[in-house]
Amino acid sequence: MDSIVVTGGRALAGEIPIAGAKNTCLKLMCAAILSEEPLTLTNVPRLSDVSTLSQLLESLGCEAALLQEGRAMVLSAAEISNRVAHYDIVRKLRASFNVLGPLLGRCGEAVVSLPGGCAIGARKVDMHLSSLQAMGAEIELKEGYVHATAPRGLKGVEIEFPFVSVGATENAMCAAVLARGTTVLKNAAREPDTRALADCLVAMGARIEGAGTSQMVIEGVDALHGTTHRVIPDRIELGTYMIAPAIAGGEVELLGGRRELVAALADRMEAAGIEIEDTERGLKVSRANGRVTAVDVATAPFPGFPTDLQAQMMALMCTANGTSVLEETIFENRFMHAPELIRMGASIDVHGGTATVTGVDRLKGAPVMATDLRASVSLILAGLAAEGETLVSRVYHLDRGYEHVEQKLGAVGARIERVSE
Ligand code: UD1
Repeated sequence: MDSIVVTGGRALAGEIPIAGAKNTCLKLMCAAILSEEPLTLTNVPRLSDVSTLSQLLESLGCEAALLQEGRAMVLSAAEISNRVAHYDIVRKLRASFNVLGPLLGRCGEAVVSLPGGCAIGARKVDMHLSSLQAMGAEIELKEGYVHATAPRGLKGVEIEFPFVSVGATENAMCAAVLARGTTVLKNAAREPDTRALADCLVAMGARIEGAGTSQMVIEGVDALHGTTHRVIPDRIELGTYMIAPAIAGGEVELLGGRRELVAALADRMEAAGIEIEDTERGLKVSRANGRVTAVDVATAPFPGFPTDLQAQMMALMCTANGTSVLEETIFENRFMHAPELIRMGASIDVHGGTATVTGVDRLKGAPVMATDLRASVSLILAGLAAEGETLVSRVYHLDRGYEHVEQKLGAVGARIERVSE
């Protein structure tokens, strides 16, 4: 199992290219099921999550061909030969539950393993299921699998989500594009990923209005056709690498970065004293001398502060001047990085969904353990600012969502290497 070793204390300088968005790409891949014609994706990130989902799609009968050294992908679902998404794969990658809406929409039938919980919380799928039931699907839960059928096809309906869910909005939207009549999704997710999925579906012939707002109106069509779609930049990778020079000092330009993707983070970082400049090629982030100022953060659905950047922001606040309060409102157990950061000398008190962080002068390197994808990268960020060596083990979590973190940070001057045991 690989580990990453970071030796802290070096200011960063240079540029980091931002890859295509993992979460967007995964949902676009699921949408390929909706058409008999090929969907070509470009700016595909080279991540283990993408390979895992490719395997699942192949098991359903789709062909997945990589081009441009894995930077592009052609998905052909001319025929869906199997409608069962097995536990073996779904348990590894929760996003694969999002084959349910497309399979049901295209084939009128789907058997998809329940994803189960994960380290950050229970992560239920009740809203995925209730929205499909509202559209006429019959759903049974048997032996850990969702058996969904719509023998007479799905029909358009008005659905109001009790709270915002990215996955449920996307599953319902994918099911609705081939349903009979009009579907209205209220309290829909406004995430850039959801909007990008809608843009791709529209390019495939779907009729969707209001993507990117909290109300979407979807007019069902008979069939979708193929298209070519470029994956948007990964706002979580972007946000992570914006925090790198903020915590380590220095100046880094994030190529392909766009402020509107990370506006809530940019706002908090600027309040903490970090400079962020829009450039022709992306965003330039710099921290001159001195510590950042403590700021409070509460996670919220987009356009609020992303839960997927909470751990990284906590690492930054560990080195800030003053006390900050971080409130996690999306997942019930998403402070697993806190005990690891405490091992590095951080001062953090967690009570329920709130973490109070009092900045310290200097973090100290320590052996720490990655517990989930974003938690692992927060430990690497902390390592950049720490005195001495930080050894982050279990980095397979990291490889699910970050392309060669050691190369990207190494290229801007960080002392970081991957070691295989
Ligand atoms: C997606 C992202 C993930 C991000 C999250 C929140 C992907 C692949 N993953 O996850 O990185 O952290 O959005 O921005 O896109 N919930 C229910 N019932 C449901 C569905 C959700 O109770 O049927 C709850 C979840 O447990 C969670 C909250 O709703 O507490 C939000 O989850 P959701 O937006 O659905 O997250 P994901 O789509 O799983």
